[in-house]
Amino acid sequence: MLIQELREIQRKHNGHIPEDELHALANRLGKSKADVYGVASFYPEFRFEAPPKVEIQICTALPCYMKGAEQLYRAVVKLAENREDVEVHRCPCLGRCDGAPALTINENVHAIYGSREMYDRCQGSAGPGFPRGRAAAVPHRSLWGGGGEVWDAA
Ligand code: FES
Repeated sequence: MLIQELREIQRKHNGHIPEDELHALANRLGKSKADVYGVASFYPEFRFEAPPKVEIQICTALPCYMKGAEQLYRAVVKLAENREDVEVHRCPCLGRCDGAPALTINENVHAIYGSREMYDRCQGSAGPGFPRGRAAAVPHRSLWGGGGEVWDAA
């Protein structure tokens, strides 16, 4: 119930929960503000400030970690340097372990299908372009190639 209310408030406010709405919710539910804030701040999906234009979350839980998520995270952080409209975070499991490493670009979940090629691209040794095979369906070529397409399209 509380989680659903928080989601609805966040949806209404374009991706964040304003403080006055948090307090109003606490009053409405007969709970303390600290209780409501404690729940909301526990879950990384809730924000208290307006989100950036592009928010990328990279799963670094064990299955994704084993498929190179940490290297992917570092590569994406490097690409996002000097971009005030882009935030990159690590996050827990996104439920796409089958295609690890997984990430979200704003609300959309993508699975990269980890491979040696993905790792090479993070290292810059395989050149720009899509990985082959199933990963070709993943729409973020510029994560590997270093262009701006992923930011502009998100
Ligand atoms: S462990 Fe990364 S999506 Fe599940």
